[in-house]
Amino acid sequence: MDQYIIRGGTRLQGEVEISGAKNAAVAIIPASLLVRGVCRIENIPQISDTDTLLTILAELGARVSYLNKSTIEIDCTDARCQGAPYDLMRKIRASYYLIGAMLGRFGKAKTTMPGGCNFGVRPIDQHIKGMRALGAEINVRGGYVYADAREGRLRGARIYLDKVSVGATMNIMLAAVLAEGRTIIENAAREPHIVDLANFLNSMGADVRGAGTDTIKINGVEELHGGTYTIIPDQIEAGTYMVAAAATGGEVLITNVIPKHLEGISAKLRETGTFVEEYEEAVLVKGNGNLNRINLKTMPYPGFPTDMQPQFGVLLCLANGTSVITEGIYDNRFKYVNELRKMGAEIQVDGRVAVIEGGRRLSGALVHACDLRAGAAMVIAGMVASGVTEIEDIHFIERGYERFVDKLNALGAEITVRSEDEESSARLIQIS
Ligand code: EPU
Repeated sequence: MDQYIIRGGTRLQGEVEISGAKNAAVAIIPASLLVRGVCRIENIPQISDTDTLLTILAELGARVSYLNKSTIEIDCTDARCQGAPYDLMRKIRASYYLIGAMLGRFGKAKTTMPGGCNFGVRPIDQHIKGMRALGAEINVRGGYVYADAREGRLRGARIYLDKVSVGATMNIMLAAVLAEGRTIIENAAREPHIVDLANFLNSMGADVRGAGTDTIKINGVEELHGGTYTIIPDQIEAGTYMVAAAATGGEVLITNVIPKHLEGISAKLRETGTFVEEYEEAVLVKGNGNLNRINLKTMPYPGFPTDMQPQFGVLLCLANGTSVITEGIYDNRFKYVNELRKMGAEIQVDGRVAVIEGGRRLSGALVHACDLRAGAAMVIAGMVASGVTEIEDIHFIERGYERFVDKLNALGAEITVRSEDEESSARLIQIS
């Protein structure tokens, strides 16, 4: 029941450091199940999704220890395939990676159907198709997924994905690295976190080639060994601060980023008239308080990311003229529009298309974080609105943004955390 209380009208200014990529970390943590030995993983984001996965691994018998706030060691040498806590698996989307990792390591798996943000139906048929092609028997019953390698060990296969899917691409990679023979994934997703997972696996002894293109080739190996790996910076966390800077008319240097991964976001921001300058490992964003209308469509990488769509939805409420956003990935990713309307936004939604009448002054209201990125968008809306905005269901935001309130307040935002529990409330406000 915790809430963010935001006093609007602040301008962000200063420097913010980006944490490790959530959607890479949530695949790399389960990937460590494939390794017999110690995986030292650096640049782990401290967010609730990674905490949940680490707890699941520990329940499976892995040794997990923090060396510092962003470096962990995971040793899955003695892990078992029994005992994963189902209530935790049900909470997050990325629990689907346990299917591939457990099948690869143990030849069997039992997991729940994944949870995660609700953008309409989010099937895992392509994951299942891939696992079946590798020789697994898969049954979904009563909310559980049961997987069994028919011959005890998976066998490499050629798999064409009917839909470009980040999750299915990475899950099949996990299942295939210890399979017998060669696996080819065609029509694979190309997101930076797919390359990151391949690099992690290769640094532990796997043979994965072509990640970042639409054809990935995996030659199965007998075993993986321990090693050290550093996760890439989070593209979407960086993009969120870029939009926050532009929306508040601020000036923010965003450090620890790979500018190449931000190209789609930078290009659309520049179209709005926002100044974006790229450095080797940083981007500088300067808002000028005068935003042009734009159209945008979300697409698989290197297209514009769906995970930045709600933040741009807020930005375009402030632009001069009418903008059109087309959602190309999910059926139902405009639920946040109802919340923005409470703040004075004028947006019409028809299926996967939103038409945004810009030039509106937003005013503070009691709103709800519908999901992770929608929640981040409401925080941006609260910072540009007049008056006070209260955001409920902030647990969604904490799934994916490390120290969001601390980082924004250090840039000049005025956000406090109000908790139902008075004692923890006092503690949170003190550290924010
Ligand atoms: N799809 C299918 N069948 C499948 C898999 C996907 O039809 O078997 C469809 C989905 O319904 C969707 C499209 O394919 O329409 C793409 O889904 P994808 O599998 O790529 O998404 P995902 O793996 O479920 C990951 C991220 C999401 C991000 C998407 C797209 C994780 C844990 N989640 O989800 O991240 O939106 O890729 O880039 O990596 C977030 O971080 O806020 C978030 C939602």
